[in-house]
Amino acid sequence: MIVVKSQAEIQKMAAAGSIVAEIFESLKTFVSAGMSTADVEAYVDGELKKRKAIPAFKGYRGYPSSICVSLNAEVVHGIPSKSVRIRKGDLVSIDLGVILGGYYGDAAITIPVEGASPDAQRLSDVTEQALYAGIEQAVVGNRVSDISSAIQKHAEANGFSVVRAFVGHGIGRQLHEEPQVPNYGKPGQGPRLREGMTLAIEPMVNAGTFDVVILRDGWTAVTADGALSAHFEHTIAITRQGPRILTKI
Ligand code: MF3
Ligand code: CO
Repeated sequence: MIVVKSQAEIQKMAAAGSIVAEIFESLKTFVSAGMSTADVEAYVDGELKKRKAIPAFKGYRGYPSSICVSLNAEVVHGIPSKSVRIRKGDLVSIDLGVILGGYYGDAAITIPVEGASPDAQRLSDVTEQALYAGIEQAVVGNRVSDISSAIQKHAEANGFSVVRAFVGHGIGRQLHEEPQVPNYGKPGQGPRLREGMTLAIEPMVNAGTFDVVILRDGWTAVTADGALSAHFEHTIAITRQGPRILTKI
C-alpha cells in the first residue's frame, strides 16, 4: 500500500529533509583528504545533535552507523571506519537519513575530492543529472517507471550503467515504504503517481558494468569490475505544482 501524505505531513518531511540538506552543504567543504570516514560520521553526529534529529540508518536492520560512506568502486552502504582514510582524488558518496518529529528525510551526494580525475567528475555530474531527469518525471499522472526510464536513459546516453541491485523507495513515517523506484526500466509501468506521494529517488551509476558484489562485512556493495561508482538521492513530494524536493535548504 502506498501511503499518501497530507500537506502538513509533507511540511514535516521538509523539516527533516532540510536538515539533511544543510549537513550535506557543510560536508561539501568539510570532507577532505587525510580524514577517516569515521571522522565524517563524527562530524555528522555532532550536526544532528545540534538539530535534535535522529540518524535513521543506525540500527536499521543492524546497520552500525549514522551515515554510509562509499569510496570509489564502493557503490553504497560503506561503513564508516577509523582505518579508512579519504585520499586525494577519491570519489566519496555519502548517504544520510534522519528522523525529525516522526518523519524521515533521506538523501545522498557524491563529492569528488580535490584531485579527482575528469572521468570521476563526469560520472558524478552525470549521476546527479540522472537524478534530476528522474525527478522531472515525478508528476501526477505519470507512472513510477517513467522516473526509472528517464534515469536509465540519461546514464546510458553518457556511456555509464545503472545499478539494478538497489532501488529508490517510498518514504514518510518509515524509511522504506512502497513503492519501489528502480533506476532502470521501460516507461509507462508500475503504480500511477498521485498528489501526496513521497519518494526517495536514488540512482547509483557505474563507470563499467552494473553488477555489484557485497563485501564480507555484509553491507558494503562494490562494483564487480572495480570501476568507479556514484550515488545521488533526494526525497521528493509529488504535488499539483510538480515535484517538490524536500531534501533541500
Ligand atoms: N538511502 C539508503 C536506503 O534508502 C540507505 C540505507 S542504509 C541502511 O536504503 F543502513 F539504512 F540500510
Ligand atoms: Co534511500
